Amino acid sequence: MTKHLLKMDDFSGEEIIEVLNLADQLKYEVKHNINNNLLKNKTLGMIFEKSSTRTRVSFETGMYQLGGHALFLSSRDLQIGRGEPINDTARVLSRYLDCIMIRTFEQEKVNELAKFSSIPIINGLTDDEHPCQILADLMTIREYKKILKGLKIAFIGDGNNMAQSFMIACPKLGIDFSLACPNGYTPKPEYIEYANKLADENNVTFSLVHSPAEAAKDADVLITDVWASMGQEDEAERRKIAFTGYQINTSLLEHAKPNAIVLHCLPAHREEEITAEVFEAHADEIFDEAENRLHVQKAVMVKLVKH
Ligand code: CP
Ligand code: NVA
Repeated sequence: MTKHLLKMDDFSGEEIIEVLNLADQLKYEVKHNINNNLLKNKTLGMIFEKSSTRTRVSFETGMYQLGGHALFLSSRDLQIGRGEPINDTARVLSRYLDCIMIRTFEQEKVNELAKFSSIPIINGLTDDEHPCQILADLMTIREYKKILKGLKIAFIGDGNNMAQSFMIACPKLGIDFSLACPNGYTPKPEYIEYANKLADENNVTFSLVHSPAEAAKDADVLITDVWASMGQEDEAERRKIAFTGYQINTSLLEHAKPNAIVLHCLPAHREEEITAEVFEAHADEIFDEAENRLHVQKAVMVKLVKH
């Protein structure tokens, strides 16, 4: 059966670790100019219905480094932009390509693409999930903290794609996850229910709170994301009010462990979800995180295409 990465739950804890280990190896190889050509003659199609800097460039470069080729497919130019059904698109693209990465709005569209395609599909961000980013974050956290099991990660902000992928990944790896969201911006109920179940099964905690200080207490890692995601531009003003206080700043950091690291998937809005001061103090971590998108996505592609 074709293996996909449509959502974080498509990978078990063991598979996440397998991908992180391969990503570490691929990072070492690229730093030492070791060519491996693991995906020689393979082609990745990259469908974008939303903007991107990191996802586009890291997937395209990653495929090149693995000896393959990547095609940027804007939905504005594809026939799906003019109403061609996703199931026909999936069946056509499966005849040309070896793998598809898609960034879109509805999770259902990614699921539909996978249902009708015979090649692996990778979610490059939907309104519900951002699994590639979470894998890069976990890789970065492991680089800084050396171990994942037993850590506490605190996420401050919107309970949408980033938070939802984190709350599924963390319990599978033995990580306590604490999420502080304003009223009305919590994750979908089915994610909350599933995260609680996974936390129970893995003897870790998942806590959903309103107070950023409570979430940040004794955390090893503090993470945030924009207050208004792509597609929510019309809500930006309303969200600025609702998210006031949901910011990583020096006083919030005092609640975390003294050696806590700070991550941000980028793009960042300084003085909204993070202060410029904290951002710059933790820039090494944040840009390592951005770099690790490249290495971890190469590992994901190798795992799925070679499956
Ligand atoms: N973090 C992230 O996914 O960045 P892009 O939107 O630039 O791809
Ligand atoms: N939550 C953000 C993440 C951007 C990488 C968005 O969906 O726009």
